[in-house]
Amino acid sequence: MKKALTAIQPSGFLHLGNYIGAIEPAVKLQTETKLTMFIADYHAITVPQKPEDLRRNILFAAATYLACGINPNRTTLFQQSRVPAHTELAWVLQCVARMGEVERMIQYKDKAVGKGESVSVGLFTYPILMAADILLYNTEIVPVGEDQKQHVELARDLAERFNKQFGDTFLIPEPQIRKDGARIMGLDDATKKMSKSATSAKNYISLTDEPDVVRKKIMTAVTDSSTEIRTDRNRPAITNLLTIFSAVTGRPIEAIEIAYLGKGYGEFKKDLAEAIVEYLTPLQAKLSLLLADETELKRILDDGAARANEVAEHKIRHVRKVIGAKL
Ligand code: TYM
Repeated sequence: MKKALTAIQPSGFLHLGNYIGAIEPAVKLQTETKLTMFIADYHAITVPQKPEDLRRNILFAAATYLACGINPNRTTLFQQSRVPAHTELAWVLQCVARMGEVERMIQYKDKAVGKGESVSVGLFTYPILMAADILLYNTEIVPVGEDQKQHVELARDLAERFNKQFGDTFLIPEPQIRKDGARIMGLDDATKKMSKSATSAKNYISLTDEPDVVRKKIMTAVTDSSTEIRTDRNRPAITNLLTIFSAVTGRPIEAIEIAYLGKGYGEFKKDLAEAIVEYLTPLQAKLSLLLADETELKRILDDGAARANEVAEHKIRHVRKVIGAKL
């Protein structure tokens, strides 16, 4: 069985983009791969976090994974900071990475905008921690949204360079990016991705949005100038809404286009809102049940950390040996 790995930052709520771009593909991979999934709490602290919020968000992210269908008996589910080998390997890889290649990371440039000199060093080196996350587990497939592709490519480059310098140590991972839905766009601006750090809540549908909030956000979502309900490279807003419709219902985009031939945006949006509500309602019910039992959530994460540590420790011991740190 191939090995797959993915992660999510516990930075508050999760949105439909996270679900469609990364969680749903990972849930599907559970049956055909050996899947490792974690909550990237040490990535989240690259921007200031209140301790009590971080703690709550870690449990929330774990519960969301489970509510979306991650089976902890099949999949190793854990919290990143519980596996020290991640930060240790990140250090070793920081000594292999070059300033030039890390400076090219688009996400750093985006997130650092306007922050001047006060931006954390961690935000800059974060893609190297992500490379360590991936390489520790002999990962072959990394299901992610489009915005993480460049980081997976950096992991590949670092693995290749390390292997050349110290002998075969890491497998070279492949990003797995879905054809439709790898970049869900903002509902308020279809030229920018749906994002947790958006300034307006109208940008996204949170997985915990109440039905009426979902309806309002969809009804006020921006549309393109012409009224046809059809995907088109030049009509990003309707293309985005169709992608979301298809993802939450499992219906192919073409079938939805046919169903709405000659119909207006009003009817389409109303049905889309209901489809999202129908998708989110059972998920939200599962989520509250899971969040009500913190002891069980922590037990699942403890068990996952124990399993992850076994694999990660093995790899980091090998790394120490080949770089000459083992006496
Ligand atoms: P994060 O927490 O920003 O996002 C989690 C996942 O959601 C995807 N995503 C999207 N997909 C489609 N449309 C969108 N608008 C959208 N927004 C976010 C992201 O691509 C991601 O797959 N660095 C990562 C977490 C991470 C990781 C890893 C991932 C840490 N270590 C190792 C894979 C492997 C991050 O910040 O994702």
